[in-house]
Amino acid sequence: MMSSQGWPEPVSRVQALAESGISSIPERFIKPTSQRPTKTTFTNNHASEVHDDENTINIPVIDLQHVYGDDSRLCEETLKRVSEACREWGFFQVVNHGVSHELMKHAREVWREFFHLPHEVKEDYANSPTTYEGYGSRLGVKKGAILDWSDYFFLHYMPSLLRDQAKWPSLPTSLRNVIAEYGEEIVKLGGRMLELMSINLGLREDFLLDAFGGEDDIGACLRVNFYPKCPQPDLTLGLSSHSDPGGMTILLPDDFVSGLQVRRGEHWVTVKPVPNAFIINIGDQIQVLSNAIYKSIEHRVMVNSNKDRVSLAFFYNPRSDLLIKPAEELVTKDRPALYPPMTFDEYRLYIRTKGPCGKAQVESLISQT
Ligand code: OGA
Ligand code: NI
Repeated sequence: MMSSQGWPEPVSRVQALAESGISSIPERFIKPTSQRPTKTTFTNNHASEVHDDENTINIPVIDLQHVYGDDSRLCEETLKRVSEACREWGFFQVVNHGVSHELMKHAREVWREFFHLPHEVKEDYANSPTTYEGYGSRLGVKKGAILDWSDYFFLHYMPSLLRDQAKWPSLPTSLRNVIAEYGEEIVKLGGRMLELMSINLGLREDFLLDAFGGEDDIGACLRVNFYPKCPQPDLTLGLSSHSDPGGMTILLPDDFVSGLQVRRGEHWVTVKPVPNAFIINIGDQIQVLSNAIYKSIEHRVMVNSNKDRVSLAFFYNPRSDLLIKPAEELVTKDRPALYPPMTFDEYRLYIRTKGPCGKAQVESLISQT
């Protein structure tokens, strides 16, 4: 048990608990029955749903190759696919995204190595709820909350004013360089995705990037999730249901172990990652900017008893002190602004205080207006 450093209770690392050889999980990780994981369910047929041989469905997979080429007809086709995925799913995978596969592999490897360093090395980076930066094991500060079965490392990448490599792990020795390079590539991909979304929404191509603060001033952070093996995976979750509060998330899932589930109506769909793909999802800030033409989607993570899982969630966010509100072009008499203007700093206090709560926050805003 570590000291509490601003947390409501002493912090214990889930990884240490998992490695201690327990055969049942402590009560503070046991979810109420209604929140426990369920098996993937087959849902209605839908044009963009991909069915695999186990009779499950998968989120759309979009090939971005033509976005970088100069065949405008093929690019149109890609734009259409992105548009459908944003409107109908809010979650999709991209391949031929321009990020080196080697770099993706290294990024996973350095973090896997970090989490396997001795406990005392990791504790040097123990975080607090003030900024969340560093090594952490919970989201939210409600005393007595039921916790998730995961540890994480959270760091700021942009704006550069907030980037402090001294707060990033110094071991393994290549981590800082690999993550700096990885961040640079992901920021480029994120900028391109915002362009595609802006065009698809009928806005200027740089509308969303500008609303986020412009190329040099977006807010970007990385949350590396470590989900240890769990002796009773049916009773808990690695990450409870939530929508991402920020702009857009570019997720590099584990290359071997699945676990991410996306909500589709009343069902949960387990994402089957495509090799070398990124999973992209809409966050609450794009829901607000698009006046709910695009919606953030609830998702959660299951754990299992055989294998640890590592994922890198890169949050591509607006600069945190800018007011975010529905684009005027998307506000009409028939469709009034659904959300009041708010900075992301204000907005994210909710999840940082209460922890993951499905889509409760963005939905509560609608009813206020
Ligand atoms: C997150 C998240 C999914 C995963 O970090 O917000 O949803 O697969 N992660 O780890
Ligand atoms: Ni998420």
